[in-house]
Amino acid sequence: MQRILVTGGAGFIGTNFVHYVLNHTDYQVTVLDKLTYAGNESSLFGLPEKRLTFVHGDICDSALVDSLVGEADAVVHYAAESHNDNSLSNPLPFLETNIMGTYVLLEAVRKHGKRFHHISTDEVYGDLALDEPQRFTEHTPYNPSSPYSSTKAGSDLLVRAWVRSFGVEATISNCSNNYGPFQHVEKFIPRQITNIIDGVRPKLYGSGENVRDWIHADDHSAAVLLILQRGGLGETYLIGADGEKNNKEVIEAILVGMGCSADDYDHVTDRPGHDLRYAIDPSKLRTELGWTPSKADFAAGLAETIDWYRNNENWWRNQKAGTEAKYFAAGEQLHVPDSLGLQLSPTIHGQGA
Ligand code: NAD
Ligand code: TYD
Repeated sequence: MQRILVTGGAGFIGTNFVHYVLNHTDYQVTVLDKLTYAGNESSLFGLPEKRLTFVHGDICDSALVDSLVGEADAVVHYAAESHNDNSLSNPLPFLETNIMGTYVLLEAVRKHGKRFHHISTDEVYGDLALDEPQRFTEHTPYNPSSPYSSTKAGSDLLVRAWVRSFGVEATISNCSNNYGPFQHVEKFIPRQITNIIDGVRPKLYGSGENVRDWIHADDHSAAVLLILQRGGLGETYLIGADGEKNNKEVIEAILVGMGCSADDYDHVTDRPGHDLRYAIDPSKLRTELGWTPSKADFAAGLAETIDWYRNNENWWRNQKAGTEAKYFAAGEQLHVPDSLGLQLSPTIHGQGA
């Protein structure tokens, strides 16, 4: 394998993967990215120009995709509309990019006989109860909750059908919640870090008991590269780093890590249909491919991520006001659970907004 096409390589996880591949292999990388609100070409600045080609375009553009897939040895497909809250207010782009875009790519890899790796999420499995020990495995039935997760589930099923019906040489990975550098400030962890930098109290949906299974984006990248190189064709692998934490714990860790009081946050309107708990059993990836995470220390990864947002304000500043306006327009309001007599202050104590 010499040249890989990475769709969505200017987004959060795609960018981290491109950095990882250029640092750990001698591959040539072509990025195809539409540069939606979530894409940022500057995330790729400074990488070796001789090994990286950036193409601004849409994965739904079949002529463009056909020519790029024809030039590549393998395709790693990250491009997607990725944010649950956006999918609740405007689902259509999720159907277009996540379903139709994946279809266009599958037809191109089928025609050219190219290796395909499809990036997906654990959210296709729906959610788990807070008080049960089970975790998702490759055998958990699909049961997605939101327009986002249902379109990702649909795209996974398309890949499986193209493997079975047309013999496409594909693998699929379903990963848990990622964190790390270059993540858009609409997402939970960077939203709270940048709020605190701005002197605004972090926002916790509902009671904050919902659990996510956090993994550093570098560990996700290492797993994807391994699956691309050594995964069994037609196989699905779940990627997770035993990082279960509830949202309240995470928001408190961010506040304390940034020198604030652990209770200096607001409860806001809960997300409709909010999944309770995600948790990955990564046994197959560990036993069959020998993968282990190298950044499983969440406290250390979070501290590094906080530093990154503090040191890279020029990267995220343009996203911030529009993102907060979007949450406001969607009706986000302060919401104090009856049991908590919290004061409603829009700013961090002692700091200006
Ligand atoms: P992101 O929103 O940060 O980035 C998505 C990228 O895709 C952007 O650069 C955007 O410009 C590009 N894009 C969108 N529509 C496109 C189109 N039609 N054509 C070409 N490019 C297009 O998303 P992310 O968080 O980096 O997620 C990447 C992938 O990983 C997605 O498939 C997502 O489902 C999956 N995933 C994400 C997480 C997570 O925690 N964020 C976890 C598991 C899996
Ligand atoms: P998010 O980063 O949107 O990822 P996902 O919906 O894919 O899990 O949200 C992670 C968790 O954080 C989720 O349970 C929703 C919650 N959340 C908040 O409590 N406050 C926020 O401001 C945001 C954006 C999310």
